[in-house]
Amino acid sequence: MRSYSILVACALLGIFQTVSLSSSDSKRLSSYDAQVKELLAQMTLDEKIGQMTQPEQGPVLANPGDMQKYFIGSVLSGGDSDPAEGNGLEAWTDLYDRVQSEALKTRLKIPVLYGVDAVHGHSNVLGAVIFPHNIALGCTRDPALVEKISRITAEEVRATGIQWTFAPCVAVPQDIRWGRTYEGFSEDPALVEMLGVAAVRGLQGDLKNPLSVLACAKHYVGDGGTAATTAPRPEAVPKGASRLWLDQGDASMDEATLRRIHLPGYVAAINAGVGSIMPSFSTWNGVRCSASRRLLTEILKEELGFEGFLISDYNAITQIRPDDYKASVEISINAGMDMAMEPTSYAKFFNTLKELVTEGRVPMSRIDDAVTRILRVKFAMGLMDKSRSQLADRKLHKSFGSPAHRELAREAVRKSVVLLKNERNALPVAKDIARIHVAGKSADDIGNQCGGWTIRWQGQSGKVTTGGTTVLEAIKAAVSRNTSVTYSIDGSGAEGASIGIAVIGERPYAEGVGDTSDLSLSKEDVAVIRNLKKAGIPVAVILIAGRPMIIDSVLRQSDSFMAAFLPGTEGSGIADVLFGDYSPTAKLSFSWPKSMDQLPLNINVPKDRYSPLFPYGYGLSY
Ligand code: GLC
Repeated sequence: MRSYSILVACALLGIFQTVSLSSSDSKRLSSYDAQVKELLAQMTLDEKIGQMTQPEQGPVLANPGDMQKYFIGSVLSGGDSDPAEGNGLEAWTDLYDRVQSEALKTRLKIPVLYGVDAVHGHSNVLGAVIFPHNIALGCTRDPALVEKISRITAEEVRATGIQWTFAPCVAVPQDIRWGRTYEGFSEDPALVEMLGVAAVRGLQGDLKNPLSVLACAKHYVGDGGTAATTAPRPEAVPKGASRLWLDQGDASMDEATLRRIHLPGYVAAINAGVGSIMPSFSTWNGVRCSASRRLLTEILKEELGFEGFLISDYNAITQIRPDDYKASVEISINAGMDMAMEPTSYAKFFNTLKELVTEGRVPMSRIDDAVTRILRVKFAMGLMDKSRSQLADRKLHKSFGSPAHRELAREAVRKSVVLLKNERNALPVAKDIARIHVAGKSADDIGNQCGGWTIRWQGQSGKVTTGGTTVLEAIKAAVSRNTSVTYSIDGSGAEGASIGIAVIGERPYAEGVGDTSDLSLSKEDVAVIRNLKKAGIPVAVILIAGRPMIIDSVLRQSDSFMAAFLPGTEGSGIADVLFGDYSPTAKLSFSWPKSMDQLPLNINVPKDRYSPLFPYGYGLSY
């Protein structure tokens, strides 16, 4: 495990370096307390509770006057919560300006924080650069690259006016059957910590900078440590999900294990000045994270000194006591939740919390603490600076989706593609080779390349998803004029080609919909390889998937095999590796199992159980 020890070393170096550097970026949030105190003293109870209330844009705009009536302090666009006019850049910017204008009509004119899931670029907006998902970035081991990606993501988010992203996900997925594996950088806490901090620094930089956005470390804590089960789900089964599920499940472990595996990303993010943290839907030893005073107040706020605010996950508070909403709100707010993501039930939350305060079941001191934390962030971000417009800066539209931003994404792709096998010198391919036959469902499919959280919450197969370069287009652009590139989705017609390149793997999914008991390749993918083999030519396989899959049969039949995971819009980065313009350097961020019955399989299982097909940290170069 040589590479692992090196990783730990650079992680430690990274932390020391990060801690010393982060203090230079933004002042401590508590340094704004004098201004916060002055504003808080002017606020009514309604205005305070309004700061703690976060509806989704659709429902609150559908009720004219509600932004003022409930003194709304924050709005989100969750998955598929898009402008009525569609997902264009102008439509998103107009939506943000409309929401902010509504907020500025309130008595104290406290601007809203608008939050979205810009988790691999501003991935709701057509034309945005979509970067590789975190699982691929984990394979780069490159915090400087992750920081740059986060910086550009912040700039493209700000182009729409929006100032908050629910990222980075610093989950440490321990079981790849979880549908959110790809949102994690790695199974290795040290790697998650190193890259999570880089993401926070890139997104937030100096929070006062109008090109910065508020980051949100999520999902606190142990979301990646839940156990797979086929027990009845407490919530409705997402459409298309398997009987086996992990998402929003139970992380059953002692506190020492929770701290060792799942907490490091938060400690580092807090040291880097992260302004918000999102508690997880999941439970820790049976207790909802959103209800746990131990987790939210004692550990995060008292022990670790977190000075920002906690935002609940999407309707997560209702899950605490499904039968008693008022008790759920009382438990969560008293446990330390500061802002409630209540997409449609924002009025109910507002009125319920007001009752709880009036009845003395939630002390005013807790309300004041929550609002103080929220206002600290707003002061730190310059939202309260009356000399500064809080509407979108549309000059940023000219760099949105720019070639320079795409070049960075292309660099991230080539540095994240892991070469797992390369025999008979199948790769790199000569650019003047006679003929390349490309095949597979993901060879010409931007949607599959990007995966979930892309334009649609669940993502969507097809070219229409958003602009970018497919693998097939990238191959065509890379080869010489004398080279012919042919394509068939099933691999037929490959006879006579110099090499066959198959692009296979998973279709997009997000969250629990991606939970699965079976990670074997689909019949159609296996058939593609068979058809290429029948043509008697070298076969190179590229896997586009949100996690390692069970590949043994296909691996044996291929001459070369690379894992590109979910590379995003810039397929050219894959061509850079295919044709040798870049010799692969990426190393696996997750262990690769031989079979399903090995799972969960990761570097944290007992050594006698660890016998992967490819170990954590594996990766070839030319
Ligand atoms: C989702 C996810 C969370 C996301 C939030 C807002 O359910 O759990 O990661 O940030 O809701 O979309």
